[in-house]
Amino acid sequence: MTVSHTPLMKVRGLSKRFPVGTLRRKMLHAVDEVDLTIGEGECLGLVGESGCGKSTLARVLARLVDPTVGEIELSGVEIGKIPARNFGASSLRRDIQVVFQDPTESLNPGFTVFQAIADPLRRLVGGSKEDISAMVLAALDDVGLPREYGSRYPHQLSGGQKARVGIARAIAVKPKLLVLDEPTSALDVSVQSLILHLLAKLQKQRGMSYLFVSHDLNVVRLLCDKIAVMYLGRIVEFGPSKSVFHEPRHPYTRALIDAIPDPERRSDDRTKLEGSASSPIDPDQNACRFAGRCPVELPICTTAMPPLTSHGVGSLVACHRATGGNP
Ligand SMILES: Nc1ncnc2c1ncn2[C@@H]1O[C@H](COP(=O)(O)OP(=O)(O)OP(=O)(O)O)[C@@H](O)[C@H]1O
Ligand SMILES: [Mg+2]
Repeated sequence: MTVSHTPLMKVRGLSKRFPVGTLRRKMLHAVDEVDLTIGEGECLGLVGESGCGKSTLARVLARLVDPTVGEIELSGVEIGKIPARNFGASSLRRDIQVVFQDPTESLNPGFTVFQAIADPLRRLVGGSKEDISAMVLAALDDVGLPREYGSRYPHQLSGGQKARVGIARAIAVKPKLLVLDEPTSALDVSVQSLILHLLAKLQKQRGMSYLFVSHDLNVVRLLCDKIAVMYLGRIVEFGPSKSVFHEPRHPYTRALIDAIPDPERRSDDRTKLEGSASSPIDPDQNACRFAGRCPVELPICTTAMPPLTSHGVGSLVACHRATGGNP
């Protein structure tokens, strides 16, 4: 299936802040003024280091958590204002499904594989007992699990098999968007690659859109059409995977790519990241979040937040250096 450019999800000015501190007067900016578009049939990779807000953004977009402010449009319908609880109980839940990081935690230990897959089908799709049963068996076939595994409980499955059940229950209802939050990071490397191939195959067959969260740029590069790079709650670079990977414009993206082991490159050619990210609590809104850690910092970086600016077809970067040092 070819990737269409019709947007499935459009996100504008999305922020999620958590009140923290003893008096809950401080604000932790987990996601800050994010704009994103996910095309129909497109796989968008979301990368960034631990704590930068990937899971929070994924959970807000999957409508498991309410945004503090911002718009989320799905197929032209504004869904950002629907409280997460109501969204979960509505027919819209079918359109956005989630696969979580830890397959053990995401499965109910008291449900058999069959029950785990049948449950969302009953709630979101409906049909006779025979219809539901046929859909469960089809989902097991789709993820390459033998049908007899339907009667097993999670503790009777391997990690890879549990991951397949998690994927089966998400795709069984035929969602438009699958949000995958580090779906393979709890698995060993050989199983990881099998699951990634399965996800790539399912996406092609079904034409689903993916939001694929990962801290592994290599995985994202192979699977995703586009990449969004996140740093301390903000998207700092966005574009087609090839151009983000081969011509990174943001120094943070460059550092992430340079951190991938490559025996053919000398270590002094690489951008190295020193220190750790600054605090997400009440951050300075008049400075680049990467200031203080950036190897190519300009004076303007500590006085003005660089906006996400277009630099070529479909590519965006938030860096004063990349946009000529102008605010
Ligand atoms: N419910 C919450 N209350 C307060 N702070 C939260 C809450 N959930 C997340 N955070 C904070 O928001 C920030 C982003 O967390 P998040 O889990 O989204 O990061 P992440 O990029 O997914 O990290 P990782 O790669 O480790 O999974 C962190 O500073 C985290 O401590
Ligand atoms: Mg996370």
